[in-house]
Amino acid sequence: MFKVGARSLLSLVVLSCLALVPILSRPCDSATQTPPTQLPGLNALLMGADWYPEQWPEERWETDLQMMEASHLNVARIAEFAWSRMEPSEGHYQFDWLNHAVRLAEKHHVAIVLGTPTAAPPAWLTQKYPETLRLEANGQRVTHGNRAHGSVTSVKYREFCQRIAEEMAKRFGHDTNVVGWQIDNEYGYALMSYNDEARQQFHAWLKAKYKTLDALNEHWTTSYWSQTYDDWNEIPIPVGEHNPGLMLDWQHFVTDAWASYQQNQIEAIRAHADPRQFITGNFMGYKFSGFDHYIVARPLTFVAWDDYVGTGHLDPDTNGISHDTMRGLKRENIWIIETQPGSVNWSALNNSLDKGEVRAMAWHDVGHGADEVSYWQWRSALNGQEEIHGTLLGPDGKPVPLLDEVATTAKEFASLQDAFRDSRVVSEVAILNDYDSHWAIDWQKHTEKYDQFAILKNYYHALRTISQSIDIVSADAPLDQYKLVVAPDLYLIPKTRAEHLEEFAKNGGHLVLGPRSGVKDEFNALLPIPQPGYLAEPLGAQVEQYYALEKSIPASGRLGQGEISVWAERLKPNAPDTEVLLTFGPSNGWLDGRPAIVSRAYGRGRITYIGGVLDSSLMQSVAQWMSTSSNISPAFGVVPEGIEANRRMGPKGTVYVLINFKTQGQTVALPHVMRSLLDQKEASKLELPPYGVAVLADPPRRDAPKQPRL
Ligand code: GLA
Repeated sequence: MFKVGARSLLSLVVLSCLALVPILSRPCDSATQTPPTQLPGLNALLMGADWYPEQWPEERWETDLQMMEASHLNVARIAEFAWSRMEPSEGHYQFDWLNHAVRLAEKHHVAIVLGTPTAAPPAWLTQKYPETLRLEANGQRVTHGNRAHGSVTSVKYREFCQRIAEEMAKRFGHDTNVVGWQIDNEYGYALMSYNDEARQQFHAWLKAKYKTLDALNEHWTTSYWSQTYDDWNEIPIPVGEHNPGLMLDWQHFVTDAWASYQQNQIEAIRAHADPRQFITGNFMGYKFSGFDHYIVARPLTFVAWDDYVGTGHLDPDTNGISHDTMRGLKRENIWIIETQPGSVNWSALNNSLDKGEVRAMAWHDVGHGADEVSYWQWRSALNGQEEIHGTLLGPDGKPVPLLDEVATTAKEFASLQDAFRDSRVVSEVAILNDYDSHWAIDWQKHTEKYDQFAILKNYYHALRTISQSIDIVSADAPLDQYKLVVAPDLYLIPKTRAEHLEEFAKNGGHLVLGPRSGVKDEFNALLPIPQPGYLAEPLGAQVEQYYALEKSIPASGRLGQGEISVWAERLKPNAPDTEVLLTFGPSNGWLDGRPAIVSRAYGRGRITYIGGVLDSSLMQSVAQWMSTSSNISPAFGVVPEGIEANRRMGPKGTVYVLINFKTQGQTVALPHVMRSLLDQKEASKLELPPYGVAVLADPPRRDAPKQPRL
């Protein structure tokens, strides 16, 4: 938390020096009953499509909207690539056509989300002001004709972006059928320009952070390899492998550059828009870590993200991790503002999702906290890079076979929306996420086998199977609602963060640290104290040495037995009451017979350290111990393997979404008689076909876990 505050202040200083708009944080509004994702006057669950009226003759628009209405779609996101139509020449704006589309949508009960078109500047702009185009790291200027070619650090480009956003807001800021705004498009790629303008801004940013070059040199340990800087202008933009301190600061600068670019547009819109209109951005899930999403998401009304499977089929854990991470950015419900209508066009094999899978995916979204799902796209342009992407209408303007399934799901959303009103996902288990740690480990993996996502997924799968509900939140987020908090590899644990985590255990929580925890400080420098740094003392143990493993090694103890691979750490208990729960078997000599998992009761809670990457069945028994010892109860109850249970809780009671991801039908015995909302029956048992979905309701319970509040 300290880091975030300090960083925002820094951006404010630096970027305002450059006449760019500063980042202003706004408190998250989840303290209100209704999540900001559920809009006044509209259904609590919405379904829509991403629609591009500018690609079609106006006479066609009403047919499209009639078809959307008939398919129970009630939202359309539009205009995010229509800059050349809205500003055909510099300073000349044309919004009448857009207004016509918005009015027709209103007539057909389709609410509009307007995208600012800044991911695709018009040709006249980039031609006249080539400095607005990004310079790649290899020195080449990107050419016009693709997208994301504008430079986020170009003051000129920002002026244009601010102006178009402002002009749009002047025209549509009070429009009754415009419910909200999306800034730019998928800026989580965080593409930067490697030009002098960006470099100078980076220098100003560093100056504001460190004040003196002596301080910078010290924190980056630049005496190494003669990296010492005597002039701010000597500092390069890191490309490829570089000093880890410099690399982390560059990532922080990138984050602040995008946050302030976004803020520039937020302020232009807010100056003219009704407060009821939301402002969001479309992020891209867990694996996109171009900037620190906790910082960039802060001023948004809520988080939306684009959920694509690509090749293959929906893996509920992989997709669940992204949902839970995106929901954790603001610890609030989300929108899926783009999702796959069967297939995409950009992966190695653009297979279609199976019949029934698109519906299962939509309910999976809702189960993980989404209140809206939109398909990208309604109908594809007849030409362009994405002309053979999945759609809901074919090039002939007629429904593709999938539209039927989407319409059925949209109808289900509409008929069940009341049960989801004001409801949220409530979890007792949290997994900690930290962009700094991700970057730092990836820059110096030490073994190419170290796959942070696979390691996270191993924890997630085991813990989700048991608890059936997990939040993935920032390492600095408030933790009091959780019983169990797991940090798979929290590499950077500066003192304040350590105190925050220690406090959680002191107050009765169970903190579990995985390998590579507590190695570095906030400057990405090694801590000059034994790992896990400031948490070694409360843990009553330390890491003596780490080992990248050539092959897996056996481990056994009270928590079971199995294999440890990829990474292992030799642990040493330092306190008499530190328990050894797992021990390494014979391996490289250094690890033989040494502790692999230690745990210690601390305050009213507990701290555990896992010194290696566990195989999946060992992980399952360790997760069982973590959960039992933390008194975790499953959100729903026992379900057969392949069924995913999700829970949302609200003032009206609890709703469960059960989905069968197996290709065979399965029977689920319910913990007690519940109301099955899709068929309006009381049920004690369910038959779920492949990709089958059940939505079950329980009235409010007195012992229900508390709803999280900021
Ligand atoms: C992204 C973009 C869309 C479109 C889709 C295709 O999500 O935001 O504009 O390109 O990918 O899958």
